[in-house]
This record gives sequence, structure tokens and C-alpha cells, in this order.
Amino acid sequence: MHDQLPALHALQKPIVAHDARFKVLACGRRFGKTTLAITEIQSALQHGAQVAYFAPTYRMVSEVWRILKRLNKPHTAHRSEDEHRIELINGGAVECWSLKAVDTVRGRAYDLIIIDEAAQFPNLEDAWNGAIRPLLTDRRGRAIFASTPRGRNFFYQLYLLGEDSTAPEWASFHAPTAANPFIAPSEILSAQSTMPARRFAQEYLAEFLADNSEVFRNVLAVSVLSPALASDFADNPRFVAGVDWGRAHDYTVMCVINADTRQEVALDRFNAVGWEVQRGRIKQLADKWRIDHIIAEANSIGEPNIQALQAEGLPIIGFTMTAKSKSPLIEALVLAIEKSDIQLIHDAVATGELLAYQTEQLKGGGWRYGAPTGGHDDTVIARALAWMAVHDHLPMLEISRENIFRRW
Ligand SMILES: Nc1ncnc2c1ncn2[C@@H]1O[C@H](COP(=O)(O)OP(=O)(O)O)[C@@H](O)[C@H]1O
Ligand SMILES: [Mg+2]
Repeated sequence: MHDQLPALHALQKPIVAHDARFKVLACGRRFGKTTLAITEIQSALQHGAQVAYFAPTYRMVSEVWRILKRLNKPHTAHRSEDEHRIELINGGAVECWSLKAVDTVRGRAYDLIIIDEAAQFPNLEDAWNGAIRPLLTDRRGRAIFASTPRGRNFFYQLYLLGEDSTAPEWASFHAPTAANPFIAPSEILSAQSTMPARRFAQEYLAEFLADNSEVFRNVLAVSVLSPALASDFADNPRFVAGVDWGRAHDYTVMCVINADTRQEVALDRFNAVGWEVQRGRIKQLADKWRIDHIIAEANSIGEPNIQALQAEGLPIIGFTMTAKSKSPLIEALVLAIEKSDIQLIHDAVATGELLAYQTEQLKGGGWRYGAPTGGHDDTVIARALAWMAVHDHLPMLEISRENIFRRW
């Protein structure tokens, strides 16, 4: 960020010029939302206004706080680091708040409030209606919500309000990252090639993604192989595998991938018939394919089974599935299928599980991946773990790697 504020770019200008009292900006990452917000704050301060900046994390708050301190230094009458408050010689004042502390903001009255990355704050509805909106009443203040979307949460409702002609105080604006002329188009292309289309649509195109929409695209185009025979491979390629354990009503699945060609060679799916028998089957497959790396789900029954197989000398490690570790695991497979980086066996059950796989928006704004109610996702998980085993350095899997334990 510059010492001086930069001149607004072509898509920021009309947003600032618009005279709506409440503005909702749904824009891609790095569109220039925060820059625009700071520009608005600075021009309000010049007129002696009382301003507040809110953001969901302390890190964002302190970044903007640093910038505001620097920009206003020549005109500062008083500054409080504790309160993140700057008072100017002309009577104007700006305060920076974390949305996490929104309930402690009392007895203030503002002319302008910025809520940056509003969609990333889980309790935006309560924060707005319960705490922030009343702060604008006394001075008939304005508000700007600027954010990259996060599904159809409360920020989406505010966005719709801005589109609604019966709510004249509200206006909405929409712009992708590419609308910022200071972002190199090659950066956007690079992001596009390394993330699932869905995530790119949300983060860079600023789309409000719907719940329960399909996760895997291009499934049929890559599901074209028939199961292979181990004897087909004379040249000893590197085989890796993923294992998802069956529970009471589902199946244990082992997916074997030729890591050299990224082609699935075997997908074994068997009903729970006692752990010892299941381990025997996994060991048999591991020996047959001379698999050099197996990643298996480690939750509950997974861990003792993995330990037993490790004791038998199998190169198997566990992956603990959590809400946090599951997303990058699944998204890596989503991306591989979208980009046709992987080829899969066409199997009615497994292809069906990929096609049926869904996301559901969590209240906190994230996505939960899973089979539709009553459906199974054993083959999806086994394939995702096998795909993870293909790679040693997939950046998307960095988070997942924390969940890996190595014990042999
Ligand atoms: N009008 C502008 N002129 C020059 N650079 C800009 C302008 N608007 C944004 N930028 C630059 O673009 C990048 C992203 O801007 P930022 O405001 O942080 O985006 P966002 O908050 O939408 O993620 C930053 O490097 C910022 O300095
Ligand atoms: Mg920002």
C-alpha cells in the first residue's frame, strides 16, 4: 500500500460516486475493496466525519490501522493505540474494530462505517442488526459492506437488498478480480489453473455459490478405464493407494493408482466382514501391486487397523479426516478431475458417487463436502487419498499434511 492513496481505478470510481446510503460490494479477491474503503474513510475524515472500520480478523484490522495512522499523521491531534482511534485536528475521528469485539462497541455514533470482508464473518446478521446498524442512527450515517462472497450467507441477503428496487437506500456492486487493472492477468490465469472451478468462481469471479451444487465436474470424461491386471505392467511403475474403511452400513474401499501415468488401475470395494479379513485383503492387494505408499483414513477404527498393517510391514500411513483437512483433500481430487490430470476406472457405483457428491454451506461460511443424505462416499474418499499419495508436494495439501502421522 502506498504512502499516498492511489487514484481509484475505473471500476472503483462509480462505486464511490454512487449516492446510496448502504453499499454492498461483492468483488473478487484483490479487486481493491480495502483500497476503496480507505479512500472513502479518508474523504469522510476530511469533512470532519466520525468513521469506523470493521473487519473479521485482528490481522486485517491492524493492517488498515497502520495505513490510517500513516495517512493521517500530518493532521492527527490525538491517537490511542489501545482503542485504535485517531482524532484529527478538524474534529474528524476514525476507529478500527474487530468484528469479534462488535458487542463491546457502545455509545458511539458514526457517519460512515466500513465492514470489510463482511461475508467472512459468521455472525454478520447479529453484528449488523444488533450492534452496528444502531451506531448509524444518530448521525444518519452510511455503511459500506465490501467482501468476496462466501456462499449464500447473510452477505448475499444484503447484496440482494441492493438489487431490490423497493429498498432505495441500498445499492449493490459486483466485480471480478480481473477488473483491477493493477493485477496481472497472468496471476489470475495461474490461480485459475491451480484451483477447482467452483472455488475460482467464488474467489476471483465473486459468484455467490449455491448450496448442494455439484462438486466434481468432467467426471464422465475421465472415467473411461477398465480395471488393469498387475501382470500388464512389466516396467515396475510406482503404485500408490488410498483406503477408506467401511463402517456399519458401508464399504471398505481401496483405490490403486499408477503414480507414473496417473491412471487408476484397481478399485476394490468390499463389505465389512471383520477387520482381520479386511486387512488381509488390503495386504493381498498391496503385495500384488507392490504398492509403495498407502494413505488410509485414520479416524476411529482406522488407526488400529493401520497400526496392525504397519506391524506387518505395509507402507501405510493414516490421514485424520476433520472438517478442516477434508476440504483440501477433496479439492485436490476435484481439480485433478477437472483438469483431466487423472483417469479413473468406469465403475457404476464409483462414478455415481462422484456425480452425486455435494457441498453444503456451513453457518461459519465454509463448505462441508459429503454424499447426499443416505448416499455413500467411500470410493470418493479412497480415490482422494490415493490421489494425495501420488503427490509429495501439492501446495493445496499442506493443511492436510498436518493430519498425517508417520509411525513406522
Ligand atoms: N486504484 C488503485 N490503484 C493502484 N493500485 C490499487 C488500486 N486499487 C487497488 N490497488 C492495489 O491492488 C491490490 C489489491 O487491493 P486491495 O485493496 O488490497 O484489494 P482487496 O481488499 O479487494 O483484496 C493492492 O496491491 C492494492 O494496492
Ligand atoms: Mg481487502
